[in-house]
Amino acid sequence: MTTTARPQLARSLRLGLLIAATIGVATGLFAWRQVSDERRIDLEDVNRRAHVLAQQLSGTVGRALTLPDAQAREALRARLDGYSRLIGYAVFRPDGQLVASGKAVTEFADRLQPTAILAAQTGTDAFDTTRFQGAPIHVFAIPLKDAAGSGQGVLVVAHDVSYIDERATGRLVRYGFWILIVTLLAVMLVVGMTWFAYERPLHKLADWMRRLRTENVSEAPPRGLPSALLHSETDRLAASFRAARSTGRRLSQAAMHAEQVWTRDRLRTHAITALGEDRQLIVVSNREPYMHQLRDGEPRMIMPAGGLVTALDPVLQACGGVWIAHGGGDADRETADASGRLTVPPDDARYTLRRVWLTREEEQGYYYGFSNEGLWPLCHLAHERPVFRAADWDYYRQANQRFADAVIEEIGDGKAVVLVQDYQLALVPQMLKAVRPDLRVGLFWHIPWPNPEAFRICPWGADILTGMLGADLVGFHLQQYCNNFLDTVDRVLESRLDWDHFAVEFKGRVSQVRPFPISVQDWAERKVPAGEELARQIAALKAQHKLDGAYVAVGVDRIDYTKGLPERFRAVGRFLEKYPQYRGRFTFVELGAPSRTHLRRYRDHIAQLEALADEINWKYQTNGWKPIHFLASHHDARTVHAFLRMASMCIVSSLHDGMNLVAKEYVAAQESEGVLILSEFAGAARELADAIIINPYDTEQFADAIRYGMEMDTAQRRARMRRMRRTVEEHNIYRWAAGFLTELAATRAQAPAGMAAGVGES
Ligand code: G6P
Repeated sequence: MTTTARPQLARSLRLGLLIAATIGVATGLFAWRQVSDERRIDLEDVNRRAHVLAQQLSGTVGRALTLPDAQAREALRARLDGYSRLIGYAVFRPDGQLVASGKAVTEFADRLQPTAILAAQTGTDAFDTTRFQGAPIHVFAIPLKDAAGSGQGVLVVAHDVSYIDERATGRLVRYGFWILIVTLLAVMLVVGMTWFAYERPLHKLADWMRRLRTENVSEAPPRGLPSALLHSETDRLAASFRAARSTGRRLSQAAMHAEQVWTRDRLRTHAITALGEDRQLIVVSNREPYMHQLRDGEPRMIMPAGGLVTALDPVLQACGGVWIAHGGGDADRETADASGRLTVPPDDARYTLRRVWLTREEEQGYYYGFSNEGLWPLCHLAHERPVFRAADWDYYRQANQRFADAVIEEIGDGKAVVLVQDYQLALVPQMLKAVRPDLRVGLFWHIPWPNPEAFRICPWGADILTGMLGADLVGFHLQQYCNNFLDTVDRVLESRLDWDHFAVEFKGRVSQVRPFPISVQDWAERKVPAGEELARQIAALKAQHKLDGAYVAVGVDRIDYTKGLPERFRAVGRFLEKYPQYRGRFTFVELGAPSRTHLRRYRDHIAQLEALADEINWKYQTNGWKPIHFLASHHDARTVHAFLRMASMCIVSSLHDGMNLVAKEYVAAQESEGVLILSEFAGAARELADAIIINPYDTEQFADAIRYGMEMDTAQRRARMRRMRRTVEEHNIYRWAAGFLTELAATRAQAPAGMAAGVGES
């Protein structure tokens, strides 16, 4: 036993002794009471016996008492002797004078006198106990009366009752013995139980914690803790602790390298080194960055809304390569070659877009069904119940295989680094490794990762994790999602976790798990108006929407129930109700891009929002002003940029969001001021602490935040925006990509000691 374990054993012992003392006192009192009762019953027996004996002799004694003392003594001689426990009799006159007594009684007859007098005076039986030469004597006296009822004298019966005391002592000894046995057993039971159930596991836990703190151990917390909650919380605590330490390590490494701002050119150069000259870069996602749709019979190119496209297109433009994605536009086939390829951007070819064709059934089951009715609500805590259908899952696997096949086809015999994107393609990494273990595969998960309890409801959870762990590197926006992911893997798969390096070894392969908060590029790099042209564009938009003179707040979102749009509209309504002075002066413009509208939930959501905007507008609008402009259609980057520049405030109120790039787009679009209201449930809130952070479910707080933002003084607005701009400029999309590629390139070299190295080349 270690020296630290001794005090705990002593504590168990103390507890045992306390319990033993309690049991001892309680059972001792009980035994004492029992013995007293039994003694009383024995004495009552003697009383009864003495009474009978006295009755039997009373006639003879009564007659003798009519005689003078000497004759009476003579008449009673030899009748007053006892035998065995009956010591004998004594006869007294009513005044207490002894007339005669048995031989054995004579020596202590004077001690019988008080009882005899009591019986004579009260006229009733009396009894008492006394002692002679240490022996206890039971004294019983009955008064004797003549025929006229006058007292003749008293007959006293004396018994030796030392046997009663002996019997009581014997009983006490026996009780004591059993009390001792029971108490000892109780002590052993209590000490054993507390030691094995509490002290020992807690001692092991403390020991493990100490080693976690001081020796950097990677083993899992000890099992057998007294509460299941303690198990799960310890796991999480350890995960957070290790994550914090490894983040700290990485941060200090990053600081040592004195980073300057990452640019497109810097990323390009860096990618060549990180990838290796002979490796091509392949990005694969469900959503394509450039989609062709028919408008008035002509194909029109749009960039679909959503953070994934916003973030990845600049990376591909910088590094070149192939982006493989679903060709979902109705004019996609006619704008690509026979193999589904085209170069993009259309007017300045930088990389190849390879479109994958899916059947209508595949799109329905894989994309709408499993991805967006299953995994999307599963990963977002927005109180939307996920739906899992076996048929959707089959299509999901089939479509993932189709994307994986397209990747393999694009790579041919060459070498490649493949960046798989998001929850629609969770199985692709493993499918790629199955045929090309030499590929370097990264997976970036753009949405939150839930905790293991939430994830467990997915019937195919183990398959999803297995698919993902085909990747050498799995990236999430936040450390918290990495922790949740590792926790989930720990619960669902038979795998080995290395919490120190945030790695999982599964089926002989190692996957690293890291946070990479995604970001945006500078607006100056995009083809959006600036200077005079921008001013004209803004003026035109203001005129079109009658926004002149108003304080404009803006929201830009895919119309999705995770974005907190009803909460936002309600907050605007409450703000105008609470602060009527702003009616006619504050206008909120929502640029909402309809999304996933094949799903009823999404169609209903648009209808709900339209009704809500209508209701609020109806309540407050005046002739020339309405509070909410809900512009539900696709908006191109130029329009989004102009609104972001024009708006004095941007509102992001997601109920749960992996990152939310609109918040960063707004900051990037500002020159000097502008207020950002940002949900605490969006990943971006971790980096943009100078935003006004809100809980979108709290309408009062939300409404007050709008007022606070409007009334914030210029100096504060500028200072906050300056800090946020610096963050977004420094942590831009190029830095994100460089970080991911660097880490991916290093995965094998860094495979933690003791874990299997990945298959294939380094
Ligand atoms: C989110 C997802 C992306 C998705 C985007 C747009 O940002 O993480 O994977 O592309 O939404 O959604 P959509 O279903 O239109 O592709």
